[in-house]
Amino acid sequence: MWGGRFAEGPSAVMREINASIPFDQRLWRQDIAGSRAHVAMLGRQGIVSGEDVVAIDAGLAQIAAEYEQSGPPVDLALEDIHMTVESRLADIVGPAAGRLHTARSRNDQVATDFRLWVRDAMDAVHQGLEALQRALLARAEEHAATIMPGFTHLQVAQPVTLGHHLMAWYEMVARDRSRFADARARLNRCPLGSAALAGTGFRIDRADTARALGFDAPTDNSLDSVSDRDFALDYLMAATQCSLHLSRMAEEFVIWASQPFGFIRLPDAYSTGSSIMPQKRNPDAAELVRGHSGRIAGCMTALVMTMKGLPLAYSKDMQDDKPPVFEAHDLLALSIAAISGMVETTRFVPERMRAAAESGFSTATDLADWLVREGGVPFREAHHITGRAVKLAESEGVMLANLPLVALQAIDARIDDRVFTVLSVDASVASRTSHGGTAPDQVRARIAAARAGLDGAA
Ligand code: ARG
Repeated sequence: MWGGRFAEGPSAVMREINASIPFDQRLWRQDIAGSRAHVAMLGRQGIVSGEDVVAIDAGLAQIAAEYEQSGPPVDLALEDIHMTVESRLADIVGPAAGRLHTARSRNDQVATDFRLWVRDAMDAVHQGLEALQRALLARAEEHAATIMPGFTHLQVAQPVTLGHHLMAWYEMVARDRSRFADARARLNRCPLGSAALAGTGFRIDRADTARALGFDAPTDNSLDSVSDRDFALDYLMAATQCSLHLSRMAEEFVIWASQPFGFIRLPDAYSTGSSIMPQKRNPDAAELVRGHSGRIAGCMTALVMTMKGLPLAYSKDMQDDKPPVFEAHDLLALSIAAISGMVETTRFVPERMRAAAESGFSTATDLADWLVREGGVPFREAHHITGRAVKLAESEGVMLANLPLVALQAIDARIDDRVFTVLSVDASVASRTSHGGTAPDQVRARIAAARAGLDGAA
């Protein structure tokens, strides 16, 4: 391909370090699509004859059919997917195949291929996350009024509903989706026709190829076009953030599935046994989602490090952009599928959740708030009075709601029997009607709005 200037071939080591075909073979669909758009444009512009365009296009279609069957061949001598396709095209079409590479370079070619691949990856993640959101909506609706403890510091804090908790996950996923959507919008400009770095003297039509490949427009600076990998970093950063969320959800699955919690029972389909302890049901899928998030963050860091010192325009270091993106995408897609599967199939155990919510004096704030509202007590003082009530309940081994009125009145005479309407966990969650609060009606309203949003956007 560049043999004209060289007397000797590359050493075996050179060949091995130089080759990207072992991994960039994944770009074959995008490479062929890019070439077909390019040659069609060259034909329309009168740069390549109609006859050659037809032959080249038919050859590319044939190669696509071949690869569909058995994938591209991996021959290190052909370096990368671009040369692999072109060399096969020469077998099929003969010397006219050489006209395909007019007015382009592998630099704009790979930039285009990779953008197309990452765009598909973003679309796949976007869809996967929508499925997760729908799964969360369904389970949240089912459990809009199911009581569970809300935690801070992993200590029982205030009762919430399971639906509210699941909708918190929903909001995290919604932000992830919007990050991928933003990244896609920025990605969607076409670098093809930037050639090696400076553009080309051929009268090409970059708007034409951009349109044919589904881009909004061509990019505006040829140097930037062949050196920009922001779209891959955007993908990796969005993937990292998303995987952090999935990891936090996974962590809650792990905690909830543990015997002391017992909030959920993971189905057999998402559990594994132990080879030595017959009683074990391990949440391996959740643990691996948690683990994969570390690897995804590592992929993001890898490309950041690759790019950080590169001068304009193209440098071969950039060939290393693809493995971390491919790896992160595979891990992320699997993680999204695993979390979705667990959300859909987990059996929640409302009795355990309620018992835990009732165990930690989780309605103490409700007592304090009641004293403020009904007794006109300043909040700080109400906090202190409530602390004494909690201490008493703890020493008696009862819930706040089960303390006798006389005992409460002995602590503060302003307390009367109306207080019992706020001391149960049900009353507590029902009272939290502020926007975004945990009251079942609020949760249901948010579910309905979220569903309408999803349906509207689809
Ligand atoms: N395999 C290369 C890559 O992925 C294609 C671009 C090669 N360009 C070059 N000037 N050597 O980056």
